[in-house]
Amino acid sequence: MSTPATPYLHVDAERLRTNIRRLADRAADAGVALRPHAKTHKCPEIGRLQLDAGAVGLTVATIGEAEAFVEGGCADVFVGYPLWVTEGAGARLRSLAERATVAFGVDSAAGAEQAGRWLAGSGIEVLVEVDSGHHRTGVPPDEAGAVAAAAERAGLPVRGVFTFPGHSYALDALRSAAQDEAAALAAAAASLRAQGIEPRVVSGGSTPSLRDADLGVLTELRPGVYVFGDAQQWELGTTAPQDVALTCRATVVSHAGGRLVLDAGSKAIGADRAAYATGWGRLPALPDARVVLLSEHHAVVDVAGAPLPPLGSVLDLVPNHVCAAVNLHDVLWVGEDRLLPWAVTARGRNA
Ligand SMILES: Cc1ncc(COP(=O)(O)O)c(C=O)c1O
Repeated sequence: MSTPATPYLHVDAERLRTNIRRLADRAADAGVALRPHAKTHKCPEIGRLQLDAGAVGLTVATIGEAEAFVEGGCADVFVGYPLWVTEGAGARLRSLAERATVAFGVDSAAGAEQAGRWLAGSGIEVLVEVDSGHHRTGVPPDEAGAVAAAAERAGLPVRGVFTFPGHSYALDALRSAAQDEAAALAAAAASLRAQGIEPRVVSGGSTPSLRDADLGVLTELRPGVYVFGDAQQWELGTTAPQDVALTCRATVVSHAGGRLVLDAGSKAIGADRAAYATGWGRLPALPDARVVLLSEHHAVVDVAGAPLPPLGSVLDLVPNHVCAAVNLHDVLWVGEDRLLPWAVTARGRNA
């Protein structure tokens, strides 16, 4: 296979396998299940590596992603999202449930009743989502029992409770978000028990909160980004630069203004820039350099006084948010001397 034209996404297979194995070993040692979020890689080959390393199944964000991973051989998917189940969505979920174990999120009695109209008796289970501080979706923990009871009344067996502590994406919030996560999940589990419903799964996890996750409370972890790492994790201190497994390979096309200009812009690496980010991506070869300007096809890099790499040289650029970068590419190029194309099959499966 000839080298692809830049910009392309490169995956270091060794680092990828190490990241997968390291967390799988930690989960196994602690006796908790791992259900990685596959929206990060959208790639059945990588899902298979995670399952082979001991993951109990995969988390996905949409029914379309669930279909892509079941078609790719995964036998157990959880849609970690409060679905509003229409007749069409119900038919797709039922069809999936003929080939795989399927579960999804609920965070309202109305959502549970609506889902029950199309899915009662299908064997598809639900998990009640609780808000642990991210304030996106999820009910307050002490209301989880009422939603669970509504789901059971609607004919949907309740597997347990889940949360996404997304407020861990801030400097100095890693530990407190993990504490919020454990407290919310413990309260939610108690709320289900008060309704006579025993939660079999208590599921949490974002990549930044993993280090401090309370594995006495959580029975399942659902991180996604850990598989590759990215510049956000690098700057939060949760992935070491030498563990980052995915980069965008980009060519130096200009030295205009004494800065480095790469041929990778927002259409290759995504435009995400969190409040704490120091730029639009990082360069492992130039740790003090910062991407100070990003347009559709250009990343402009201030090299902080370092010698400018020559025009035409190819550099690794670490995207800020790897999930957003992967979603822009049809293929991940994996390996070292001989690059293999792995299809990003679930790309664009947003519905
Ligand atoms: C519901 C849910 N679970 C798990 C994750 C994975 O967390 P991370 O992206 O920090 O790895 C996400 C990420 O958005 C999520 O929304």
